[in-house]
Amino acid sequence: MTGVRKKIAVLPGDGIGPEVIHGAISVLDECARSFSHHFDFRELPFGGAAIDQCGHPLPAETLESCREADAVLLGAVGGAKWDSQPLDRRPEAGLLGLRKELGLYINVRPVKLFEPLREISPLRIEKGSTIDLEIVRELAGGIYFGPRQSGGEGAEEFVSDTEIYSVREIERVALYAFRRAAARRGQLASIDKANVLASSGLWRRTVQRIAKDFPEVTVESLYVDNAALQILLRPSQFDVMLTSNMFGDILSDEAAGLVGSIGLIPSMSLGNGTALYEPIHGSAPQLAGKDCANPIGTILCAAMMLRESFGLATEAAAIERAVAHALSRGYRTPDIASPGAKSGVQIVGCAEMSARIRAALSESLSETERYGWGV
Ligand code: IPM
Ligand code: MN
Repeated sequence: MTGVRKKIAVLPGDGIGPEVIHGAISVLDECARSFSHHFDFRELPFGGAAIDQCGHPLPAETLESCREADAVLLGAVGGAKWDSQPLDRRPEAGLLGLRKELGLYINVRPVKLFEPLREISPLRIEKGSTIDLEIVRELAGGIYFGPRQSGGEGAEEFVSDTEIYSVREIERVALYAFRRAAARRGQLASIDKANVLASSGLWRRTVQRIAKDFPEVTVESLYVDNAALQILLRPSQFDVMLTSNMFGDILSDEAAGLVGSIGLIPSMSLGNGTALYEPIHGSAPQLAGKDCANPIGTILCAAMMLRESFGLATEAAAIERAVAHALSRGYRTPDIASPGAKSGVQIVGCAEMSARIRAALSESLSETERYGWGV
């Protein structure tokens, strides 16, 4: 397919957000050039940067542009500068508000081991086995959004957060996870704490009921503590993992660590409104401005956006191949360079890593054109 036109709302945010976003845009520019697509990027204030600029982490104009766009690409939010603010005035409130306003109740986090990074995994992964799983995280409910209370003497003697899930909220994300599993290896692990939490009991019963409609999917319900252990012991057993908002947040960081770095993992959020793509890492203020962040998570977000929102599977695969190429040629940002790195490994910054991936993309495309397939 050529000549596709898309409007992309770009929210760089804070810390390393602008650097990794810059890398992803340069790769998207190369993709547009090679395939004669047109991506219209509109950059908008968001997070702490927007608090400083307009007094609010999610300005109305930013939200409006996100609603109108074909997809949203986001960097990261947060930083020490705003940490003393109350929860509802922190940069993170902008992110939660954006997810809520766009009705994004599904969050998909693919965690896959790149072969050249096998040696830096903190696990000894058996030869012949790998890590290739997807966390489907509920994103619009649970303890993140339940009523919050405080009271007692001095008004803060106690505080509470509340985990609430309705059948409908569980069903809509579970159905998506079942479909995703059916399209992959047909295995679904649903994570809960049904031995303690009533909301988890409802989660488990709802998932088990839906399972009857998906005979091709094998479903297993696991307690979250056991799931955290199983990911460490034998990550290859997992295909799709379905989780609540909170459990998915925690388990996705754990799984990311096993494939080498949280900087490698993209995510996609889906629901009623425009889809949102963001790497799962934070704003890493200690790395900001030093050109040493890993842009791969955000570049893989760009690939996911092309495939899932724009139907451009060839382009998405080309970007994913370009990332694998850059890694197999030995380019590493500091987070994925092991101390005793093999010879042939070259440590590069965020900008150079992005440029290497961009170059790998343009080279592979000229091969594609030469052989006349896939164009
Ligand atoms: C994530 C982040 C966010 C979350 C924060 C920044 C609100 O940790 O996307 O994983 O908890 O969802
Ligand atoms: Mn997180």
